[in-house]
Amino acid sequence: MKKILVIGSLNVDMVMNVDHTPAVGETILADTMTFIPGGKGANQACAAGCLGADVMMLGAVGNDSYADMQLESLGKAGVDVSHMIRKDGETTGLAVITVNSEGDNSIVVVPGANAALSRKDIDQNMELLERSDIIILQLEIPTDTVLYAAKTAKTLGKTVILDPAPVPKVFPRELYQYVDIMKPNETELSMLTGLSCTEENIEKGAAQLRRYGVREVLVTLGEKGSFLDSGICGKCRIPAYAVTAVDTTAAGDSFTAALAFMLAQDKGLLEAAEFASSVSAIVVTRKGAQSSIPALDEVLRFQESFQNAK
Ligand code: RIB
Repeated sequence: MKKILVIGSLNVDMVMNVDHTPAVGETILADTMTFIPGGKGANQACAAGCLGADVMMLGAVGNDSYADMQLESLGKAGVDVSHMIRKDGETTGLAVITVNSEGDNSIVVVPGANAALSRKDIDQNMELLERSDIIILQLEIPTDTVLYAAKTAKTLGKTVILDPAPVPKVFPRELYQYVDIMKPNETELSMLTGLSCTEENIEKGAAQLRRYGVREVLVTLGEKGSFLDSGICGKCRIPAYAVTAVDTTAAGDSFTAALAFMLAQDKGLLEAAEFASSVSAIVVTRKGAQSSIPALDEVLRFQESFQNAK
């Protein structure tokens, strides 16, 4: 199996389940607050590990107990965290998350140590990039570091997957050319292309990203499935599994990880996207980020139960 390296963020999620997402100026009550390991990069690494991938993670945490919680969670998932960087004087990233009764979330991230992951950290861990085949990036660490990591990875001949979340105020045009596979959701696609979030703009938006230089684009559309625009597999729509969502946190992260897990076994992108849909479908039926990620045998059982129900 090919090796996966996730370069990115780690947060501790402070999760509040609420009846509805508070409006501007509104105060609402939540019954409880739970601390759950999260962060887009760490969720991706955790999901890849739970599925059985050979995965390493490079990221930055503080010298605090939140970091220990993260490293323990990733360690249990089988992720190699031996190169994780502890930044003195920084706190581990934090995310404040509300999840409403529809399962939809809103997230505010305090980056902490994630913001201190630099080009120098990439250079000092070049051996990890050299040893890996597939490199997954997201945008909760400095954009400059992502740009540098993607460019370096491409120079080394690696496959680069970018989950463009969250979309920064300024997205460097140069980055597109270093990305093999980009996986925006509908909102991110709209932010990157300037096109409004409409059905006909999904295909247009994906084509636009390909014109910018991305080789393959996979747009996730929640309960509407996903749309693939690939030079190899062509254009197609992949249906979603019909499930009742209780919490969509980490659905996108686990989709990206599942995709990489399949590519690491030399599966095609279409088959990988179909598999990733089933992983995300399970994730949305459970609460929390890393707490909701399934192991491979659960995914296979879930797929089988859908087949049998047909
Ligand atoms: O994608 C979900 C993640 O976004 C959460 O775990 C939170 O930490 C933020 O990074």
